[in-house]
Amino acid sequence: MNDGINSCSDFLKWALPELKMRPEGFRKVRKQVCKRLLKRMSELNLHGFESYRRFLQDNPTEWKVADEMMRITISRFFRDRKTWEEVTDNLLPEIVRKANGKHPVRCWCAGIASGEEPYTLAILWREKILRQFPNASFEILATDSDPHMLERARMACYNKGSFKEAPAGLVARAFHREGPLWCLDKAYREMVRFSRQDIREEIPEGIFDLIFCKNIVAMYFNKESAVSIFKRISARMRPGAYLILGNHEEFPHDEVGEIREFNRGLNIFRKIGNS
Ligand SMILES: C[S@@+](CC[C@H](N)C(=O)[O-])C[C@H]1O[C@@H](n2cnc3c(N)ncnc32)[C@H](O)[C@@H]1O
Repeated sequence: MNDGINSCSDFLKWALPELKMRPEGFRKVRKQVCKRLLKRMSELNLHGFESYRRFLQDNPTEWKVADEMMRITISRFFRDRKTWEEVTDNLLPEIVRKANGKHPVRCWCAGIASGEEPYTLAILWREKILRQFPNASFEILATDSDPHMLERARMACYNKGSFKEAPAGLVARAFHREGPLWCLDKAYREMVRFSRQDIREEIPEGIFDLIFCKNIVAMYFNKESAVSIFKRISARMRPGAYLILGNHEEFPHDEVGEIREFNRGLNIFRKIGNS
């Protein structure tokens, strides 16, 4: 009788906690990871998930490869559209007024897939905020640990599926057709600075007014890792700055007390204090 690991989902239940990740977060998206695992097992000429488990146990350096295979890279423009409305209608105008020209408004998007999130922000800034505050200055830093995703983000060309939630008018203004793809115009691309960083090891320099940490830390990392990362993120937030999570993520309130819920439905949080 084989009492080992027979399926990809059983393998993930075993491997993800070893990598300080939470298997529940992968339930709906594990297809992407399982495909990569099967390809890796075929490269290693291993048959079955139990063999790959033993291989990992015997070859600790393989854990780094496994870790890289666990990245979920799904995203879209204007994902969680109501949150973007709140950001544009209320949060950014408040942040700009408070900055009062004394410092640029600084924003960080962590875990950016193909760049859909920082570019959504760039589009909204140019199309909505600059019309209200023509002199305001804005910085967007976009980080990801995956060099391939950063490369795709820099190219900034997308297929139609990426715009499912996006308002048609804004897409028409900001993108142009290149064959089957829609590519973002240079003026918006130039607003975003990219950097390769693993959020478990590195948090960008400086103080931020608005941080997007959507569908990464609270979704995929275990509680201990998430708390440690959010505490380090909190240290980089200006008092009164906002932190935005994905609509289906849970923030570890009890452990990160200096960041409080601001809008429960939209998963928007605020650092205590006023700058
Ligand atoms: C599911 S996507 C989320 C994209 C976007 N934030 C959104 O909500 O649409 C997660 C992204 O986080 C990146 N990522 C995963 N682990 C990471 C880590 N340890 N440090 C930095 N980025 C990471 C992945 O490469 C991927 O691009």
